[in-house]
Amino acid sequence: MTLRIGVVGASYAQGTHLPVYAELAAEGVVELVAVATAHRETADAVAEKFGIRAHVGFEALCADPEVDLVDVATRPSLHREMVLAALAAGKHVLCEAPLAPTVADGEAMAAAVGNRVAVVDMQSRFRPGLAELRRLVRDGFVGRVDNVSVQAFYPTFTQPAAVAGSGWCADPRYGASSLRVHGLHTTDLLRWTFGELSDVRGTVATREPEWPGGVRATSVDSAAFTARTAEGAVVSVHSSWVAHFGAGFRMVVHGSEGMLRAEAAGHTGHFPVRLTGARIGDGAAGAPHELVPPTGGATDPFATLIRAVATGDHADLPTFADGLAALRVAAAVEERS
Ligand SMILES: NC(=O)c1ccc[n+]([C@@H]2O[C@H](COP(=O)([O-])OP(=O)(O)OC[C@H]3O[C@@H](n4cnc5c(N)ncnc54)[C@H](O)[C@@H]3O)[C@@H](O)[C@H]2O)c1
Repeated sequence: MTLRIGVVGASYAQGTHLPVYAELAAEGVVELVAVATAHRETADAVAEKFGIRAHVGFEALCADPEVDLVDVATRPSLHREMVLAALAAGKHVLCEAPLAPTVADGEAMAAAVGNRVAVVDMQSRFRPGLAELRRLVRDGFVGRVDNVSVQAFYPTFTQPAAVAGSGWCADPRYGASSLRVHGLHTTDLLRWTFGELSDVRGTVATREPEWPGGVRATSVDSAAFTARTAEGAVVSVHSSWVAHFGAGFRMVVHGSEGMLRAEAAGHTGHFPVRLTGARIGDGAAGAPHELVPPTGGATDPFATLIRAVATGDHADLPTFADGLAALRVAAAVEERS
């Protein structure tokens, strides 16, 4: 039976999740059934745009018998209540990232999953350049992994449009920080590719107290941490979401037999990733060569993730356990700072 989807929240989701579901519905991969927002006017307007049912409040959508999977696309501070209601109603869940504002919330959510499919939208796994990096690392392309370095410098909240759309990110009470909202995608990629991180230590800061439009910001905007991979490689991550000239994402992997480099002009969830690499013994003095060109649009990895959910191809899906593990890394860095 085709997976029937209901979406809670139509701010970020309106330009990302909902159009993807509509496209996949046209292909017969899923059915887009309903949307819920906090207000009658917005619910009706979005429902009309997509030709679906409108609900006011997540409770009504969770009670909709024609919904199989609830997509929770609201700020993190609302996730626990909404996800638990969906799971209690027997629904599968896709929860936006980060899973929750606190580890305790994430634990309660992960504990309630039971036999349902419960996925966190850490969609960067489905960027071809990053999926290939993981495959190559596992196939021994670089040999023994020794060093992994990530720089993720984004200009997001130097830009008025981003502040207008996601201004809640300025306030840590909503579960926001650069290490959580953007950074969890990087943490998930590291865990997914290299195994569990240990020995996590780092430092964070709120360097930019005012965002465009006079928005006061108290959430963490800059963070750096080090860690060890399951095999003992040394990892460093440095990120910011207020870097005016932020060039985007760059992950470099050095091993005993080669290197890999993944680069994107912005957040890997939304920007194409180029993968280059070199192995000892390659010709031309081992100059790095392109392995995967930067392809795909802003919502492509989300569409691939949803296809995987809908077709039962669950091997690479980021689970609630993954979402919780990524939260634990962020908490370890922030709490020790
Ligand atoms: N995966 C990614 O790459 C990515 C990118 C951007 C944002 N996000 C995540 O997307 C999520 C949503 O972000 P946002 O900026 O849209 O959040 P938001 O909190 O601004 O969402 C607002 C929406 O939630 C609805 N809502 C609020 N209370 C409700 C209730 N009781 N019942 C039903 N609907 C209710 C509102 O009506 C509105 O439509 C966040 O978790 C964010 O971290 C993820």
